[in-house]
Amino acid sequence: MAMRKGELDSITITRPDDMHLHLRDGAALMDIVSYSAAVFGRAIIMPNLKKPIIKAAQAWGYYETIRAAVKYHGLGLNFEPLMTLYLTDSTTPADIREAKASKLVYGVKLYPAGATTNSENGVTQMKYAAPALAEMEKIGMPLLVHGEVTDPAVDIFDREQVFIDKVLIPLMIRFPFLRIVMEHITTKEAVQFVRGERSHVGATITAHHLLENRNAIFKGGIRPHYYCLPILKREVHRQALVEAATSGDTHFFLGTDSAPHAKGAKEAACGCAGCFTAPAALELYVEAFDSMGKLDKLEGFASHHGADFYGLPRNTGTVTLVREAWKVPDEVSFGDNVVVPFRAGEMMQWKMQ
Ligand code: DOR
Ligand code: ZN
Repeated sequence: MAMRKGELDSITITRPDDMHLHLRDGAALMDIVSYSAAVFGRAIIMPNLKKPIIKAAQAWGYYETIRAAVKYHGLGLNFEPLMTLYLTDSTTPADIREAKASKLVYGVKLYPAGATTNSENGVTQMKYAAPALAEMEKIGMPLLVHGEVTDPAVDIFDREQVFIDKVLIPLMIRFPFLRIVMEHITTKEAVQFVRGERSHVGATITAHHLLENRNAIFKGGIRPHYYCLPILKREVHRQALVEAATSGDTHFFLGTDSAPHAKGAKEAACGCAGCFTAPAALELYVEAFDSMGKLDKLEGFASHHGADFYGLPRNTGTVTLVREAWKVPDEVSFGDNVVVPFRAGEMMQWKMQ
């Protein structure tokens, strides 16, 4: 039965998973982890720390750190970090086998070198990653892709499309059985591409790319808290993402890409990329789905499709959100600093119960 926008005042879904999350480390991790751990059953944890996670032993250490931080906040039993490795030019097939054997690592992240935050150690040319990719294809380890080319001559708004044509398609021809997640897709071309593939290819979609287009970055002045990578695109692309996320298509699933940076690192002459959506993550998705009258499609997107892609059992508990106004905090502690959340100081219409 078709739903109308604003028809429901409460929604209960299976506990969701965040299939793309940046938790940082140290005191900053301690300050932010509970926003995600209180809501999501599991999260795919990005490996782009200042010293990236390139070996299984490091992933193990980071896992223990996150678990300890979650436990400190009294949320220990409810949140499972799903670790990832950071792919470099020198990742070996043995590194991949060790990661698989650890039973903690669920994917290997491709950052084209220079594409984004802490990507300096990423892959410079795909040919260097071929031995690792061949092993991943063989043992069924997913490749999680930051899908943007780094050529500064390519317009920043075109870098995802060009990546699909120049990097992703050749990669998929060479490794036809490699499981791939195109992370944080931002364009109608990426939607079309992923939709046309078999179920070994999936894509995450962030809440901020569902809710905002590129005008948000320039509304009345330059707004660094709307700057992320891949950058927000035109309205036509936002609409394609919303249609994909709310369509029920199992290729698409929730990945917040919540990526906190200290306030001063964003409000700067050369500000860092990343939107810190964790304090209102699920509420933001609910807003996007409700605006389409598609709240009935939220559970698949948030709680089923991602788990199914990764071959994990679906979570057993539930979460409930109610239509109730609350204000996003202006700032959140972030180690020695503060971080400004997405929609800081603004009213939300949905609230976690
Ligand atoms: O906006 C972003 N922030 N995009 C990324 O790919 C990385 C992330 C971060 O780590 O800050
Ligand atoms: Zn990310």
